[in-house]
Amino acid sequence: MHAPSGHPVWNPTSRGLEARLENGLLALAFLAPGMVRVRFTPGSDFVLPRPWDPARPDEDFESPSLSFNPQGESLEVQADPMRVRLDLGRGTLAFSDLEGRRFADDLGGFRVVEVAAGTEGLASEHVEGLPPGRARRLVLLDKAMHPEEGYHGFGQRSQGLERRGNRFTHWNQDAAWGHNRSDDNLYQSHPVFLAVRPGFAWGLWLRSTWWSRFDVGRTRPGVLELATLGGELDYVLFHGPDPAGVVEKLTRLTGRPMLPPLWSLGYHQSRWSYRTAREVEDLVGRFRSRSIPLDAVHLDIDYMRGYRCFTWDPERFPDPAGTLDRLRAQGVRAVTIVDPGIKHEPAAGYPVADEMLARGLFCRARQGQPFQGFCWPDAALFPDFAREEVRRWWGQQHRSLLEAGVAGIWQDMNEPSVFARPFSEGEAGQMRVPLDLMHGDADAPAPHAEVHNAYGLLMCRATRQGLERLRPDERPWTLTRSAGTGVQTLSCTWMGDNTSWWEHLQMSLPQLASMGLSGVPHAGVDIGGFIGNCTAELLVRWTQAGVFYPFMRNHSAWDTVPQEPWAFGPETEALVREAIALRYRLLPYLLTLAHRAHRTGEPILRPMLYDFPDQEELRHLDDQFMFGPALLVAPVVWQGHRHRLVHLPPGEWLDFWDGTRHQGPLAMAVAAPLERIPLFVRAGAVLTLGNERLSTDDPLTELTLEVFPGDVASEWTWIEEGGLSLVHGPEDLAETRVSIHPGTFLEVKVHPRSGGWLPHPRTLRVRLHCPERPARVLVDQQGCEWTWNDRYAEVGWLDEGRARVVRCC
Ligand code: GLC
Repeated sequence: MHAPSGHPVWNPTSRGLEARLENGLLALAFLAPGMVRVRFTPGSDFVLPRPWDPARPDEDFESPSLSFNPQGESLEVQADPMRVRLDLGRGTLAFSDLEGRRFADDLGGFRVVEVAAGTEGLASEHVEGLPPGRARRLVLLDKAMHPEEGYHGFGQRSQGLERRGNRFTHWNQDAAWGHNRSDDNLYQSHPVFLAVRPGFAWGLWLRSTWWSRFDVGRTRPGVLELATLGGELDYVLFHGPDPAGVVEKLTRLTGRPMLPPLWSLGYHQSRWSYRTAREVEDLVGRFRSRSIPLDAVHLDIDYMRGYRCFTWDPERFPDPAGTLDRLRAQGVRAVTIVDPGIKHEPAAGYPVADEMLARGLFCRARQGQPFQGFCWPDAALFPDFAREEVRRWWGQQHRSLLEAGVAGIWQDMNEPSVFARPFSEGEAGQMRVPLDLMHGDADAPAPHAEVHNAYGLLMCRATRQGLERLRPDERPWTLTRSAGTGVQTLSCTWMGDNTSWWEHLQMSLPQLASMGLSGVPHAGVDIGGFIGNCTAELLVRWTQAGVFYPFMRNHSAWDTVPQEPWAFGPETEALVREAIALRYRLLPYLLTLAHRAHRTGEPILRPMLYDFPDQEELRHLDDQFMFGPALLVAPVVWQGHRHRLVHLPPGEWLDFWDGTRHQGPLAMAVAAPLERIPLFVRAGAVLTLGNERLSTDDPLTELTLEVFPGDVASEWTWIEEGGLSLVHGPEDLAETRVSIHPGTFLEVKVHPRSGGWLPHPRTLRVRLHCPERPARVLVDQQGCEWTWNDRYAEVGWLDEGRARVVRCC
């Protein structure tokens, strides 16, 4: 190792360096341009890769070209576009880019503390029972906060978009009902954030599943403190330079979002519980007789026999396959809930428990005996998802559900939520899972303290891989309550038990936008609210906002007033129906957004700051958002409001409903009667709208390109496919580019469709939104039949995927 001034030494490595600091070992590894991994341990070796780490191995990335420039006590390493200066004496790192922008500077060296209850504010529940050794070693690091930076992301949180002045713990829990801004951790842990300032954005992911915490200038203004148990600080920095660049790099490392099946993007109806097959069939019948679109019904815990996972109650669901067949015939799929708490019931005719016990598949206490807690079925065992053998077995258990025709799996209570007392005896309370519970294979055991935050994620992996094996030709779809970074590759998620409060409708917007920034685009919240009683107006406004949730499900608890679309009478029903119908019309656009998310991590629902990071006034807005790059959504999230303030970013915007043009930046009050969701389209955009359908099973017989020309040329590529089977490559896709050329004549070119997938025969309509009626409209330079309706000229043809040029003269 080199020794610039005697004591600390450093060595170059193929992707960075290793340095021996006074209090430990530091490694820098440049993974890709703008992505650097930093590790520090007070010991002499780094931890070996953990099986639950979602990140691609370092070796997957090409070795960068590096240059080293030692200068006395410090050393500068450059791997374009980043420059890192290591002060070997102080053990600090300073980061900048080729344009001289500094970010994420260390304010001091790494600190290491042996914890006891109360150390650094750690509650006793996170300390008591921690095994000795590295589990008890807390590593901390301070970073400078730029005065103009906003801090965003942080996964699943209950605050607004901007988080300066807060402190965030990462420890999954079955959060108490009534989430509010003073809550810290909820069901999921995503130790990831974006720092955004005018002209620049960077991000950080803390690679730890142990208890960890970000203090974002709360304890010490201007100081962002990272802290984790486990004896090693391992983080990755992402140089944006804009928010999209950060999310792209984050998901390049931790996995691109899965591609959901098309049906899962439709409307889902749920309740705890539709208790009998008859009730479920009646429910679907009501949707159909009222012509309300519906793609999925969720079956909550009461479909099971005494809350035994992978069983059906023989009386209430005597013929599950028959019931689900009848739903399918109406274009509706069933999603069943599965919890990790398996009834602890040896030799009583419940093979899942018998096999779990016989093969030792459970989480075990220190002496190896099964850990028993309580859940819905009272005494319960918990599968040890950290073992490959257990994950395989778990996946296989889904066979009976799939054979009955179940389409998707809803994974719940997987924080894990463990009750302190039997549920059957009333108030069950929560039990703290001992931190020294053992997980993993015998040759690489890990304490619960390390696996806790990965438990839900590992369950998702087990379930998804099971579905992939059992139904290899179909795209799996699962939903999960608990999760962590990487869940985007495995499952869709929802934000847990919210309440039928306007505040929770309001909270859903920054919550889902933050999930998107954290690399998890497929997320939703319970529309109408889970706990408490929804009202007519709340249901209308919530469903309207829900049109733009990547996952759209109405769900409520057993003791609440019904909140199905018709529950509040015909006027409410009509408005709710209209909102759901709009979702279905938007599905072709949404499917394209899902593909874009799958390719680059691009969030579907995102805060204004994602597309307009330099607009000071938009950065903190969390009551309006973008749905993809084209659509600005400003839902009404306050009771009684019939107007709302909308902030339009710079550029031209068109009112989606009446085509009025507005020049941004502009803040304006817009009318929002109960039937209206304020929506604005960015000039230059193309929206692809489908015909109204009751289910995604119904064919798309019409596709309308809503073209909103701007002042300059623009283009959009829409992506289609069958929506159910696996997509291996272009042979399974259809992609069509549309380009808009404004000028003396407005010209719209629909380029030839590429890819091997063939859509259902359909009419393609092109609607050109222009201020005045054109004199003529030509298709491929020929006169054609066209119409004018005050806002747009429309032409249509049978879509054969051929190139066409539409010109307005
Ligand atoms: C949990 C879930 C909720 C579900 C209930 C019963 O509270 O979060 O969605 O309905 O359990 O399974």
